[in-house]
Amino acid sequence: MKVLLTGATGYIGSAVTDHLVAAGHQVVALTRSAEPESGRPWHAQLVGDTADPASLAGAVTPDIEAVIHLAPPSGDADVDSAVIEALATPLRGTGRPLVYTSGVWVLGATGDAQEVGEEAPTNPVGLVGYRPQIEQRVLAEAAEGVRAVVVRPAIVYGRGGGIPALLVDRARKEGVPEYYGEEGVRWPTVHVDDLAELFVAAAERAEAGTLWHGVGESAVAVRDVAQAAGRAAGVDAAPRVLSVEQAAEFFGALFADALALDQSVSGAAARTALDWKPSRPGMVAELTSGSYRSA
Ligand SMILES: NC(=O)c1ccc[n+]([C@@H]2O[C@H](COP(=O)([O-])OP(=O)(O)OC[C@H]3O[C@@H](n4cnc5c(N)ncnc54)[C@H](OP(=O)(O)O)[C@@H]3O)[C@@H](O)[C@H]2O)c1
Repeated sequence: MKVLLTGATGYIGSAVTDHLVAAGHQVVALTRSAEPESGRPWHAQLVGDTADPASLAGAVTPDIEAVIHLAPPSGDADVDSAVIEALATPLRGTGRPLVYTSGVWVLGATGDAQEVGEEAPTNPVGLVGYRPQIEQRVLAEAAEGVRAVVVRPAIVYGRGGGIPALLVDRARKEGVPEYYGEEGVRWPTVHVDDLAELFVAAAERAEAGTLWHGVGESAVAVRDVAQAAGRAAGVDAAPRVLSVEQAAEFFGALFADALALDQSVSGAAARTALDWKPSRPGMVAELTSGSYRSA
């Protein structure tokens, strides 16, 4: 398939590019900059900015067989809705896929429930407040003949990047590893290469109007993640837990609040229905002996 990919230069987008190409697809990358990116295995590069939905008019040409939308939200629900309108309109009546990227933070804290599934109600933290609305806006396109699909990634790790890299940087800077919120906080996690394979599977074979959790491990103790981040930074001290208010001083209140979320989320549905097989090492193992090790 020829796939239009927004966010193609980003952390997840780079991995999705690699796995689309490995699966025999062509990537048309939508980038904000017109500067050609050397070394990317893209078929073509288009310029557009999701903060300006009008700039996306014409991006979905008749030869585009799938759209994967990875660029982050703008912070304005009307703008993000207009982006979906621009991407979906040319796909109506074609049965071609539009895959939208949300995230597990729309579920909020999952409380005593274990491994919550896609049917759980949303209760988004402030950082992703209106995102469930955009999910519904996307899924409604199924009625218009678009193979509309939503993927909610867990906290992504691997390739030395993502949120765990922030913990490694903080540990190096502070001389002690840290995590945020309560002592028992747990994160659902997914390796970026496993997640990229889920995006490929979603574009290839997810049914219209479906939503999937991209979760490799359902609930990893963040204390263990912090300890491993410390080791990756060359710091042996025991992790300390900071309050959300303390973390807000350097991460901002909204991001600090999201990092402190305690969640247990299941990724079983995509394994069964899409034959998705996440296989990379877990977040703690990756931090301890994988791509985050300092030189
Ligand atoms: N990382 C995680 O743990 C995680 C977890 C759950 C969900 N997500 C979601 O996954 C998506 C991708 O995340 P990521 O971690 O890969 O982010 P990232 O590394 O920051 O990459 C963002 C990408 O979006 C592009 N972009 C930013 N603003 C844009 C705009 N106004 N118009 C067009 N393109 C724009 C960037 O391109 P430039 O080269 O132009 O900057 C870059 O390619 C986001 O929607 C994020 O909320 C991420």
